[in-house]
Amino acid sequence: MIPVNEPLLNGNEKKYLCECIDSGWISSEGSFVKKLEEDFSKRVGRKYGIAVANGSVALDVAITALGIGKGDEVILPTFTIISCAAAIVRAGAIPVVVDSDPITWNMSVDKIESKITSRTKAILVVHIYGIPTDMDPILELVKKYHLKIIEDAAELIGQTYKGKPCGSFGDISTFSFYTNKHITTGEGGMVLTNDEALAKKSRELRNLCFIPPRRFIHKELGWNFRMTNLQAAVGIAQLEKLDEFIIKKRKIGTVYNELLSGIRSIQLPLKYNDYASNIYWVYGIVMNDEIPYDAMEAMKKLANLEIDTRPFFYPTHLQPVFRNMGLFHGEHYPVAERLGERGFYIPSGLAITDEQIYRVADAVTQLFK
Ligand SMILES: Cc1ncc(COP(=O)(O)O)c(C=O)c1O
Repeated sequence: MIPVNEPLLNGNEKKYLCECIDSGWISSEGSFVKKLEEDFSKRVGRKYGIAVANGSVALDVAITALGIGKGDEVILPTFTIISCAAAIVRAGAIPVVVDSDPITWNMSVDKIESKITSRTKAILVVHIYGIPTDMDPILELVKKYHLKIIEDAAELIGQTYKGKPCGSFGDISTFSFYTNKHITTGEGGMVLTNDEALAKKSRELRNLCFIPPRRFIHKELGWNFRMTNLQAAVGIAQLEKLDEFIIKKRKIGTVYNELLSGIRSIQLPLKYNDYASNIYWVYGIVMNDEIPYDAMEAMKKLANLEIDTRPFFYPTHLQPVFRNMGLFHGEHYPVAERLGERGFYIPSGLAITDEQIYRVADAVTQLFK
């Protein structure tokens, strides 16, 4: 089976991990954590970095640090991972979702304004799959309505919007270092901000809200969302290779584009637009309506050819867990629903070989031509 993702761990990962073990610094107190926070925030052009256990809890920290709570509304794309709306709901706030753009697969920015109410506190921007969300219209909206931006750049580490790093637009931004991301710590994540108070609050929330002077007396509730020094050691080694990884990801995407662009019954990722060129976190395919089965069926057929795939996100507004809470009743977002039904992605991990790319492209061609 060609795996949908396999990371590349061929830099200083082992060396830095051995340093942790030899020194005994394996908890979150080790120096690699601080270094990863500093190096990563510098790379994205932010003042403060707070390393956390994964990209999902980074969203919990970000939303709670902003003081978003009961009765507040947060606008986000419906086409994204559950972690986004889950963090909003866990904070006691209300997720308000927006349909997707059929070409970039990001939140359709011209549909945001009609969702803003007097209760709206923030827009949670999520960059999806490879092309960033169009930020300029969002920056105008937050200025006009005095809202905050939470920017989830989990999928687009190293990507830019009009030359500015993704993750540098949010009042607070979040990242994931899960194994399929451009750089990985196995499990891990980061919160970035330029705001000293938000950084302080995020650090407290990450660490059970231990607040000096008297340890073990708590005025607020936090979580243990700390990252270990072992994870950060791997993260530093990965960050050293980020530029190389971005080149490799773009190469994988470009080769797939060349091999698959002749197939008329499928939509491929947008190569570039006027603000970014695709970084191909994943290589998505959306089947045109003429194909008489859905993505799950196509994935089964590819699995029979030993190709591992993953379905696209299932839209937030259709999630049973939220419907059962009384959320999103009667709401429909046709673009996101279609993406959820007809989209899937093919192997494109950093460790993929040219031979594997050709085999995948052959199988996809066989299936859809
Ligand atoms: C946009 C987005 N946000 C958050 C996450 C959650 O990250 P993690 O898996 O590290 O919890 C993901 C995971 O893929 C993601 O794609």
